[in-house]
Amino acid sequence: MSHDLFEAAKAAMAKAYAPYSKFPVGAALRTEDGRVFTGANIEVASYPEGWCAETTALGHYIMAGGGRITEIAVFAERTAKCSPCGGCRQRLAEFCRPETKLYLCDSGGVVETVTMGDMLPYGFQGDMLK
Ligand code: THU
Repeated sequence: MSHDLFEAAKAAMAKAYAPYSKFPVGAALRTEDGRVFTGANIEVASYPEGWCAETTALGHYIMAGGGRITEIAVFAERTAKCSPCGGCRQRLAEFCRPETKLYLCDSGGVVETVTMGDMLPYGFQGDMLK
């Protein structure tokens, strides 16, 4: 099942708008009911205004009604095991459990499986605001 999520991330990467970094990234999320949402990074001439592939995928996921995320794949053709940035770890964690799987990929597919708990231990959580 992980390879199809890699393929979805790879297809999303092909839609990246990354003329400044020339570092296209694709991400794919699967919910427990089997829906898949994808995204690519989108850059802007005012560099800080661009955003990551994972964030685009989360936007699609939320607008389709959300749900529990069970798996995530991230792929960037220019590096093996592209790992979500700190901001995306926080955004993804908002909608994941610590055991949610994250697939790190190279051009052949998934090369390492970690969890969101591995990625963001001791993260800030919404219940701390109560
Ligand atoms: N990027 C992502 O899309 N996801 C990440 O987790 C890491 C970085 C993008 C942002 C920017 O468009 C490019 O990679 C170079 O930083």
